[in-house]
Amino acid sequence: MYCIKKVTDDLVWVGANDRRLALFEGVYSVPTGVSYNSYLLTDEKTVLFDTVDKAVRQRFLENIEEALKGRKLDYLVVQHVEPDHSAVIPELIRQHPEIKIVCSARVLEFIKQFYDFDIDSHIHLVEENETLNTGKHTLHFVMAPMVHWPEVMMTYDSTAKILFSADAFGCFGALNGALFADEVDFAKDYMDETRRYYSNIVGKYGVQVESVLDKASALNIEMICPLHGFVWRSNLSEIISKYMLWSKYEPEERGVMIAYASVYGNTENAAEILACRLRDKGIKTVIFDVSVTPASEIVSAAFKWSHLVFASTTYNAGIFVTMEALLNDLAAHNIQNRRVAIIENGSWAATSGSLIREILGKCEKINILENNVSILSGLKAAQVSDIESMAEAIGADFAVPAGVVQNNQAVPNTVDPAAMFKLSYGLFVLTARDGNKDNGCIINTVMQITVTPVKITIGVNKANYTHDMILKTGKFNVSVLSEGVPFRVFQQFGFHSGKDTDKFAGSGEALRTPNGVRYVSEWTNGVISAEVKESVDCGTHTLFIAEVNQAFSLSREPSVTYQYYFDNIKPKPQPPKGNKKGFVCKICGYVHEGDTLPDDFICPLCKHGAADFERI
Ligand code: FEO
Repeated sequence: MYCIKKVTDDLVWVGANDRRLALFEGVYSVPTGVSYNSYLLTDEKTVLFDTVDKAVRQRFLENIEEALKGRKLDYLVVQHVEPDHSAVIPELIRQHPEIKIVCSARVLEFIKQFYDFDIDSHIHLVEENETLNTGKHTLHFVMAPMVHWPEVMMTYDSTAKILFSADAFGCFGALNGALFADEVDFAKDYMDETRRYYSNIVGKYGVQVESVLDKASALNIEMICPLHGFVWRSNLSEIISKYMLWSKYEPEERGVMIAYASVYGNTENAAEILACRLRDKGIKTVIFDVSVTPASEIVSAAFKWSHLVFASTTYNAGIFVTMEALLNDLAAHNIQNRRVAIIENGSWAATSGSLIREILGKCEKINILENNVSILSGLKAAQVSDIESMAEAIGADFAVPAGVVQNNQAVPNTVDPAAMFKLSYGLFVLTARDGNKDNGCIINTVMQITVTPVKITIGVNKANYTHDMILKTGKFNVSVLSEGVPFRVFQQFGFHSGKDTDKFAGSGEALRTPNGVRYVSEWTNGVISAEVKESVDCGTHTLFIAEVNQAFSLSREPSVTYQYYFDNIKPKPQPPKGNKKGFVCKICGYVHEGDTLPDDFICPLCKHGAADFERI
């Protein structure tokens, strides 16, 4: 019996789950199974995106038959030829002899290597950026080599704003009735398996993943449909932000992963004492026995944690077998950018420490602590200080920066601007109209204060022309910026005064709410139109309290936060060339070169004062 799930009005999941698979790719344990995703688009033409593993062939064919509802299958888009996604192609061709296979030349080459059927008469070759119109939908093809194989291609449906992402953004684990990531507690229940999938399947290819993320950043994506795991239709940044970290081999968490190989428990004992001393310093720790925990889980943990400790006994004049296999696995998966410490053990001729150093020394940006611990069979009281020294050396990396107040310290009688930045703010385009003049500026303080009636408050700097217009007219709109917003929007609305520029110049169609005020429809996920009821003079700013007349959503993209803007949108400041010194504006990134910054300095770009600059 078929088992399909609706994705959108004209897209159906026709994949299937396998909970009996012992080892994915013959290597990776999948205790909660795996899903093989395939999607059928029913436009004027019907389009199937990839097939499935042979293990679930029958359910898949039933699913397609049901989803087609008697229509013929026009296209099969093949994005990845690894047999867990291509195994049913030959049978599909036999059942649908008129089908066209849409793929790249490299995909075609791989299909011919794996299968033996007359494919040439079915081929519709596509290249990078080529499109295929299927009626209402236009499909754009994006090459994604080495994510995970060299032939991999992704497809972007610009009509539905869906990215069919092949293996990228996939996850181990069968789907248990829920298809969308927002139907489950993803962070709690599935993030670990997503990291394990990423690190072991595509972890080696961080550079290539970064390149695809760059391509994807130019697309307006509202949904991601991967070949394994969940479909993402909301909070896409949750998974994309992880990929941005993983592809750069940047740790997710500051803490220490300790992996040990111990024959009689003595190396384990050293690892546990180290973990205790680290915890005494408030440092998070996890411990794995490499002879017990599958290597794929430890590889995944190594991608998560900032510091790695490897403790191994010497065995046959080498590293203990399971530890040696793990280290080679980590090196093969391109682990880098980590701080490492080593504990070796040996009853005679201990060599494991130097051999571990040799393997990890080949990896990029691996910083190995000099003070290793070398144990002769079992740790003695006199040597506990060596473990404590190692904990001290690791702990130095976790030292609390100056200015940060620890829980047990007295609260200083000052206002630290850095603490004020911890408040979470959104970013918004505030617009107003006075006569025939439209204007807008960027603000970061909008808050709902009552429900009946719906009232909001906004804080607006009196230096903004928009402020004066609102004071006069009592009407404004707030357009809520979403995470895809490019920096140029902040330049357009934030870096000039509306007194001498038309901020909407070249903005296209003038979209207005019933109060006559313009709003911004691109890069925004919602619009709020309001009328001022009260205003409070707060010195440099006015607090307007307003009743909301209209409010509507424009997309499901997450709202951009102030922190997200700084981390992902605002260009990183370029240091002055040569030995020049300078100050950088924390708001817009403008660099003022020189040894000093006058107290009354005003940023020529964003008009913020000296207090918003920091020394480079
Ligand atoms: Fe799920 Fe690379 O195949």
